[in-house]
Amino acid sequence: MKFLTLAVTMLAILAIVGAAMAVAPGKTAEWDTSLGKVVFDGQKHADADLGCMDCHPKVFQMKSGSFDATMPDHNAGEQYCWACHNGTRAFESTGNCTKCHQK
Ligand code: HEC
Ligand code: HEC
Ligand code: HEC
Repeated sequence: MKFLTLAVTMLAILAIVGAAMAVAPGKTAEWDTSLGKVVFDGQKHADADLGCMDCHPKVFQMKSGSFDATMPDHNAGEQYCWACHNGTRAFESTGNCTKCHQK
């Protein structure tokens, strides 16, 4: 019983610390690219009913600046943003460059 209480407390603390550091609702992550700035909005992704596990750790590491995506990554539609932005779970890259890249 004591162990269970401790385990639950630890999990709660982890969840709070994780959420505080995450690209949580209200926060953004940004990348400067040759095609302008890309902004990832934590709020908009939370609004789309995505949980941490939809992105971590399979699609993104829990660390800013953890990946360096190229055009082939965009077109493969398998990794990073394009694991979803491939026309199945979310809008595809083709024809939608300016939805992510802001001049
Ligand atoms: C739709 C995808 C997505 C969801 C859902 C998501 N994240 Fe992230 N998270 C990202 C991206 C993208 C980054 C930035 C990765 C990078 O720059 O390499 C990130 C970064 C992080 C970081 C590192 C932040 C830093 O400043 O180093 C943590 C911690 C994190 N996420 C935790 C969480 C937690 C906890 C949740 C659930 C509450 C969550 N994430 C939900 C996509 C997501
Ligand atoms: C779902 C969001 C998203 C869409 C849609 C998107 N991009 Fe990107 N793009 C990114 C992100 C994020 C990066 C930066 C990755 C990094 O720095 O690691 C990037 C990087 C790039 C780069 C720099 C690549 C490099 O090798 O340095 C180019 C060029 C680019 N995108 C062009 C495009 C074009 C053209 C389109 C439309 C066909 C497009 N992007 C659509 C998110 C997107
Ligand atoms: C786990 C799936 C998933 C991943 C990974 C993901 N997205 Fe999304 N994204 C969505 C969904 C779902 C929506 C809402 C539906 C739509 O717009 O097609 C969305 C919406 C968006 C929007 C439109 C927001 C608006 O104004 O309505 C942008 C811009 C965007 N994502 C950028 C990114 C970028 C940049 C990355 C990578 C850093 C990324 N997304 C990674 C699922 C994802």
